[in-house]
Amino acid sequence: MNMGLSPAKDYRLSFTRGSIEAQIGNTPLLRIDIFDKELPSGVELFAKAEHLNPGGSVKDRAALSMILEGERTGRLKPGMTIVDATSGNTGIAYAMIGAARGYRVTVCLPANASISRKEILRAYGVEVIETDPLMGTDGAQQIARELFDSAPTKYFYPNQYYNDANWLAHYKGTAREIWEQTRGNVTHFVAGVGTSGTFVGVVRRLRELRPDLHALLMQPDLPLHGLEGVKHLASATHPGIYDPALADDNVEVTTENAHLTMRRLAREAGILVGPSSGANVFAAYQVGQTLNAPAQLVTILCDGGERYAREHIFG
Ligand SMILES: Cc1ncc(COP(=O)(O)O)c(C=O)c1O
Repeated sequence: MNMGLSPAKDYRLSFTRGSIEAQIGNTPLLRIDIFDKELPSGVELFAKAEHLNPGGSVKDRAALSMILEGERTGRLKPGMTIVDATSGNTGIAYAMIGAARGYRVTVCLPANASISRKEILRAYGVEVIETDPLMGTDGAQQIARELFDSAPTKYFYPNQYYNDANWLAHYKGTAREIWEQTRGNVTHFVAGVGTSGTFVGVVRRLRELRPDLHALLMQPDLPLHGLEGVKHLASATHPGIYDPALADDNVEVTTENAHLTMRRLAREAGILVGPSSGANVFAAYQVGQTLNAPAQLVTILCDGGERYAREHIFG
């Protein structure tokens, strides 16, 4: 367990009232009822609408937390450039917060990341470095590290896969909100991992509040799954902040079921989200089907579907 860092003081005190960063977090918890007929009575699915963050994804929380921690510790100073590896959403979050706080941003991402994401990054004025698609996010991380090593006084390298401020954003924010929004009735938390910040932070805090919480790790069923933002842990490098002791079980989801659920959310619930959100909701549904007592399962809607509009996955 990587708990070396003392929790930063409440970041809500650290920025100007009315700034875009002040809109991060406090997202709605949506009741997902499209599977109700197929679930045992009393089993309810909920999803945290993280796509409604101002940068459009769950990564706004982690990016803000890491930037504020960088400023607090003096590793990020005016005039510096933020550089990191990201499958896209963290880059967009850095871009938005960097623009608002006056930092340049460089992101390294695999060349096969969605076209829309690269265009959004460029719209915020970000320098995009495209890395070897076959190396995935691991290759992008290597390039970001090399850039930082080449000019450590120019760059702030949050290194989201190893930064405690990433999971602490969810420990202090997302988990507290889930607890309040379910009035302490959450029984299961289900989510996939990219950096694992969301899963690690939420599960650590909810377990403190409710030691019998069931934590289920959504896993793509194949190494080459195409679900942007999430890792197939059996074949990928494990993030430094990942804690394998937290999950009670894995729930495997096929890419087909992730896409199918993503389309159903759009067409039957009016919730336009991306493939990893579809995978999370389908995993929660699979777990819900196995239960024989009332339960409140909470999962995460990671990002919005607009980002995938040109990917031809909505059918
Ligand atoms: C679309 C999407 N889903 C899920 C995740 C996973 O979030 P985390 O990095 O907190 O594990 C990410 C992270 O980049 C993402 O971009």
